[in-house]
Amino acid sequence: MQNAFKDKVLEGKVAFVAGASSGINLGIAQHFARAGAKIALISRSHEKIVAAAKTIADEGFEATGMAADVRDFASVDAAFKTAHDRFGKIDIVISGAAGNFVAPALGMSSNGFKTVVDIDLIGTFNVLRASFQYLNRPGASLISITAPQAVNPSMFQAHVCAAKAGINMLTKCLAMEWGPAGVRVNAISPGPIADTEGMARLAPSAEMEAAIKARIALRDYGTKTDIADTAMFLSTDNAKYITGTIVDCDGGSKLGDAGANALADFK
Ligand code: HXC
Ligand code: NAP
Repeated sequence: MQNAFKDKVLEGKVAFVAGASSGINLGIAQHFARAGAKIALISRSHEKIVAAAKTIADEGFEATGMAADVRDFASVDAAFKTAHDRFGKIDIVISGAAGNFVAPALGMSSNGFKTVVDIDLIGTFNVLRASFQYLNRPGASLISITAPQAVNPSMFQAHVCAAKAGINMLTKCLAMEWGPAGVRVNAISPGPIADTEGMARLAPSAEMEAAIKARIALRDYGTKTDIADTAMFLSTDNAKYITGTIVDCDGGSKLGDAGANALADFK
């Protein structure tokens, strides 16, 4: 068995990463490039995605950045076509574009709710659906980035909870439909990850960060590399019998319930 984390295990592979101008998804793209993959990246901002691709090219690896909004199927499809024309195939897809803001349901408009569902859930459908005709089949690996909110109802996150729950079910449905074609479909559920826009929005103060860490079994935030390593494993043949799963990489942050946590506060 190859060591997915030390060898150039993705040599000869082509990965397409959506929502890759920053954060966790850019971390995955950089990690995959170092493991030998050629990388196509998309996000809404031309300037940001070209700069993201440059961080990979500056390390001596091959990457191309394209502006595409995951809410617009045609723009996503065009990006896949460009990537396929350039690299000849697509082996791995990461669907991680997302939007979030902290607001009570009564503090968001219908369009505010819809915006997050459109980016996270419809965007994920668009990315995975558009990818299919370009995939190197059998053997392709599709990975969506979901969140603990998909199964843990969270205050002021109704939009994200609903959208990410949809991603979890979409993952399972597509795994069933596309398994016979040799396409594996999984999702990763990161816990709180350090130095990300997501956590800057959810826990903007040191006090909030400390309160969140106190509720995590491993008592710390994860790193972008933790998520990239998980994505790497799922993208290799080491995971060739894994499909339709939601892989938690969250330090145990979903363990326990409100009652158990409340008891811990009295200890
Ligand atoms: C209430 C808000 C709001 C807020 C925006 N809206 N911010 N409503 N409270 N704080 C409403 C707007 O008023 C508008 O509704 C609607 O949302 C669309 O806003 P736009 O600014 O026009 O949308 P857009 O330019 O498409 O930007 C999308 C966005 C923005 C999601 C609002 O924040 C964004 O681009 N985010 C991308 C980066 C990001 O969020 N990264 C974090 C991902 S982390 P009206 O009715 O006024 O038109 C993540 C965490 C998961 O997903 C879990 C972590 C543990
Ligand atoms: P981030 O840096 O803000 O990443 C989000 C990316 O999505 C950006 O590159 C953004 O680029 C892109 N994007 C947003 N809307 C888009 C659209 N309509 N079309 C195309 N691209 C779009 O946030 P992050 O914190 O690293 O989160 C990355 C992923 O991990 C998300 O799926 C998030 O839900 C998930 N997650 C994060 C955490 C965490 O702790 N941070 C925890 C659990 C899950 P542009 O602005 O250039 O479009």
